[in-house]
Amino acid sequence: MKTASDSPRANTLSSDFDLEKIRADFPILREAVHGKPLIYLDNAASTQKPQAVIDAVVDYYRHSNANIHRGVHHLSQKATDLYEESRECVRSFLNARDVGEVIFTRGTTEGINLVASSFARPRLEEGDEVLISTMEHHSNIVPWQLACEASGAVLKIIPINSNGEIIFEEYERLLGPATKLVSVVHTSNALGTINPIGEIIATAHAHHVPVLVDAAQASAHTPLDVQALDCDFLAFSSHKIYGPTGVGVLYGKKAHLNAMPPYQGGGDMIRTVSFEKTTYNDLPNKFEAGTPNMAGVIGLAAAIRYVQAIGFENIEAHETALLEEATARVAEIDGLRIVGTASHKAATLSFVMDGAHPHDIGTILDREGVAIRAGHHCTMPLMEHLGIPATARASFAIYNKSEEIDMLIAALGKVKEIFG
Ligand code: ALA
Repeated sequence: MKTASDSPRANTLSSDFDLEKIRADFPILREAVHGKPLIYLDNAASTQKPQAVIDAVVDYYRHSNANIHRGVHHLSQKATDLYEESRECVRSFLNARDVGEVIFTRGTTEGINLVASSFARPRLEEGDEVLISTMEHHSNIVPWQLACEASGAVLKIIPINSNGEIIFEEYERLLGPATKLVSVVHTSNALGTINPIGEIIATAHAHHVPVLVDAAQASAHTPLDVQALDCDFLAFSSHKIYGPTGVGVLYGKKAHLNAMPPYQGGGDMIRTVSFEKTTYNDLPNKFEAGTPNMAGVIGLAAAIRYVQAIGFENIEAHETALLEEATARVAEIDGLRIVGTASHKAATLSFVMDGAHPHDIGTILDREGVAIRAGHHCTMPLMEHLGIPATARASFAIYNKSEEIDMLIAALGKVKEIFG
């Protein structure tokens, strides 16, 4: 039951792809770090922002700022229109059926917590099971642990092989009558593995089990079509797709969202309030209590339009080329081992080096202007499974270029000089 999204796509760059123009769109790439040009390879943690996103946020505050859904005055109407146009932009980006299925959140973490609290907790009973994988981020582990602790349900873990891929037969074996929910990452932040998410969803659905997709690392790099995937829920963060921080999206099937109690109470999520009884607003407002991050949402829509203008064909072709080049070149470094060698990978390269702790690697690279992340990447159970405390991780985005891989390799040479 493989779906189109499960197979690596063979994309080619279009003739009008202009990397230098894209780089010029990101003002921060002109910064110097320790007197050296910034080489930003920490995109899995957070991406940089193009001028179009910065302008959208500034323009909002300059020309349109007011509280939404509340005022009859001009600015409130304008802000409301911009906010709701942004929701339509996200709906179209995800190919959701209805704008009511697009909930604005603080980020992926809040989206998963919302589902854990409002969907899972009321349904889970003692002995029920929630299924996640070994490679999950803490944000797709801890909310389920909390839901399981509160209900007596059990968290089950899908194992992975030595390449960092889900062992599908084990996944199928774990699915059973007790399974009430599967929550799996689309693309691993620590390993780069792109999971066969369509197949995972179809297999769960064959057992009548709903699926949440953590798309935090996917949204900037590959198209997401929630109808084609048929996922029940999907969460992503704006800041990893060139948008502002502090905002994200939870997609949920309307039938699920309608059946769920609100996550938080407050303004905007109600229809009527009395001390005796409160009734709730329709979707999506039912899940958006309080004044939302209007500037962030409008900035996210600008980021999505920016990505759409470049096109995922170009994004995938460019980032795949960077990954292949970086993988081949770091593999030549004596004593360096790549962690995460799945056959279908995003442009995220985790590695360890003999004699050098990842934090030392990160610090030495920083002195050369090369920003990478070093640590457990919020995947401590995965690190424990791999028998390592941490990795160094270079992660690429649409604005990275081949010459930056040269700088990465040269900086890793300095690590070798110091640590042998
Ligand atoms: N989850 C983000 C990362 O992988 C913060 O770096």
